[in-house]
Amino acid sequence: MIIRDFSPTDCDVLVEILRANLQYGDPASEGPEAMLRVQACKAAEFLVAEEDSHPVGMIKGVYDGSRALIHIVSVHPDYHRRGIGTALVREIAKRFKKRGATCLAVTVPGNRLDFWNQLSFKLATRIMLAHPLDLVISD
Ligand SMILES: CC(C)(COP(=O)(O)OP(=O)(O)OC[C@H]1O[C@@H](n2cnc3c(N)ncnc32)[C@H](O)[C@@H]1OP(=O)(O)O)[C@@H](O)C(=O)NCCC(=O)NCCS
Repeated sequence: MIIRDFSPTDCDVLVEILRANLQYGDPASEGPEAMLRVQACKAAEFLVAEEDSHPVGMIKGVYDGSRALIHIVSVHPDYHRRGIGTALVREIAKRFKKRGATCLAVTVPGNRLDFWNQLSFKLATRIMLAHPLDLVISD
């Protein structure tokens, strides 16, 4: 297994992985166009895990100049429990540390708290979300 940066040719397979994990409810935020925008965003890290030249998992997160945040991690169900999710989180953590991040949070841990616990994450705060963003902007 190798971990590398996202490439535009990954889009279709990554959508399949997200669908298989029921994480594709918001194509505007997770679909191919969003993936390309994330790739172009300097604050973001977008990594793909590959087995035999085939993408089997992904992770996306952002560094704001001080703290870092993981937004999504997804491993194809056929490849669960092989250490791929752990390797993706460790690699993105290394990248953020290199940039200067002092801590790392995850916005949507899902129902896999055991997974995050074994990586030293502790349930700390609740998150509040405005979606779509126009709800905040409009009077
Ligand atoms: C959560 C997820 C990324 C974990 O990926 P993974 O590659 O299967 O995880 P790992 O093999 O690195 O797991 C490491 C450890 O985490 C814990 N863990 C992982 N999945 C678990 C599960 N389903 N139930 C209980 N513990 C689990 C175990 O301690 C595991 O070690 P073990 O297999 O030696 O017992 C994967 O299950 C997934 O994509 N789930 C759907 C999407 C999701 O919920 N993402 C997280 C929110 S964004």
